[in-house]
Amino acid sequence: MTLKVAPSILSCDFSRLGEEIRAVEAGGADWIHVDVMDGHFVPNITIGPVVTESARRATKLPLDVHLMIAEPERYLEAFAKAGADVLTVHQETCPDLRRVIARIHSLGVKAGVAVNPATPLETVRHVLADIDLLLVMSVQPGFGGQSYIPTSTEKLEEARRLLDAAGSRGELEVDGGIDVGNAATVAAVGATVLVAGSAVYRHVGGAAEGVRAIRKAAESGAVPTPP
Ligand code: DX5
Ligand code: ZN
Repeated sequence: MTLKVAPSILSCDFSRLGEEIRAVEAGGADWIHVDVMDGHFVPNITIGPVVTESARRATKLPLDVHLMIAEPERYLEAFAKAGADVLTVHQETCPDLRRVIARIHSLGVKAGVAVNPATPLETVRHVLADIDLLLVMSVQPGFGGQSYIPTSTEKLEEARRLLDAAGSRGELEVDGGIDVGNAATVAAVGATVLVAGSAVYRHVGGAAEGVRAIRKAAESGAVPTPP
C-alpha cells in the first residue's frame, strides 16, 4: 500500500483556507485531514460541516474527516453532505460501533474508527474486518502541536498485526505529533496514512515543502510493499 500524507488543516491559517489547502496539494498531499471537535468529547471546539464544505470546494483531494465529537451519529449525514470521503468516529463515543459503521457506509462514505492513546485495540477488534481505516491516536485528542507519545509505536505494530489477521485491506492511520523525526518509524511499523498538522503548516520552508519533507522522511523507512 502506498504511503499517504494527510495534512491537518487545524494548523492552517483559516482566513486563507483555500490557499492553505492548495499549498499542501502542491506539495503532493494525498488527503486533507479535517479535525472536528465539539467541546464535549474533547475540550476544544473547531470545525463543523460549514467549514468542511468550504474545504470541499477548495480541493478535489479526499477529505478525511476526524470526528472528535460525542454522539457522532447525529452528524454523519451533515458531514457526508458537506463532502467527506472518509468519516472516522472514536470508539470511546460509540456504544454500538457496528451500527455507526453501517450507517457511514449507507451514506456512501468510507468508515474509520479511532482509538485514544489509553484505549486498548481489543475494543475495536470485532469491527476490523468492516472498516476502511483504523486511526491510532498518538497524542490525546484536542489540540495540534503536541508531542508524539512514544508507546504509540508499539500500538501501531499491534494494530498492523490485528488488521492483517482480520484480512483487512484498510488503512492504518496515525495522528498526533508526526514530524520528520518519527515519520520513518511509524511507516516502518505499518502506518499507511500519516496525519501532520504543525509539522506541515509550521514548516520553515512553507506547507508544500512540509508535506514533501514528511513523505521523504517516511519513505526512507517504509517497509517495501509486496507486488
Ligand atoms: C489532534 C488532532 C490532530 C492534530 C494533528 O486532536 O486530531 O489531527 O491536529 O496536529 P499535529 O500534527 O500538530 O499533532
Ligand atoms: Zn485528527
